[in-house]
Amino acid sequence: AKYNIAVVVGSIRKDSFNKKLAKAAEKLFPADFSFTTVRIDDLPQYNQDDDGNQSGPVKRLKGEIAAAQGLLFFTPEYNRSFPGVLKNAIDHASRPYGQSAWAGKPAGVIGISVGAIGTAMAQQHLRNVLAYLDVPVLGQPEAFIQAKDGVFNADGSAGDGIKTFLQGWVNQYVAWVKTHVG
Ligand code: FNR
Repeated sequence: AKYNIAVVVGSIRKDSFNKKLAKAAEKLFPADFSFTTVRIDDLPQYNQDDDGNQSGPVKRLKGEIAAAQGLLFFTPEYNRSFPGVLKNAIDHASRPYGQSAWAGKPAGVIGISVGAIGTAMAQQHLRNVLAYLDVPVLGQPEAFIQAKDGVFNADGSAGDGIKTFLQGWVNQYVAWVKTHVG
């Protein structure tokens, strides 16, 4: 595919709604987009002492980000922010200083949670971090999805509750990536 997108899901639990949302969204992309779901559950806790000797999983993460033309962040909301496991991954791939893998990669931020505001505050915190890392994030439309009946079909595809909205979001993200990558 012409555009390989690194998918970063901020939940490592087996039945994660955000993992499901990522899979449902991927089905709505045009054929010239492919996806690499980056693994974050085996990363060590970030420790600056290791900057000169990054572990295998950290090198793998950085390699996958470097090879991608764009980024997709699917974030849960934990206590009105994004989860620590996601911050840990972001911090790892931002180092050593001057060798961040993130800079310049066009990104989309989206999320699903059980709460009524559907990860809105988590996404705002994430946008703040990504702005510092020089990651251009799609501004509109915003996508705050609440986990409830009608969100997913039995086969995992986007249900009637979100399908049209999610397709519109995907279309804008596709245009965003092409604006930056060409
Ligand atoms: C939550 N949850 C949650 N939901 C929300 O809408 N706003 C919040 O601030 C929080 N806070 C929070 C903290 C912690 C520690 C946990 C474990 C959970 C609920 C959360 O939306 C729910 O667990 C989702 O299922 C998490 O996403 P995944 O794992 O399904 O992708």
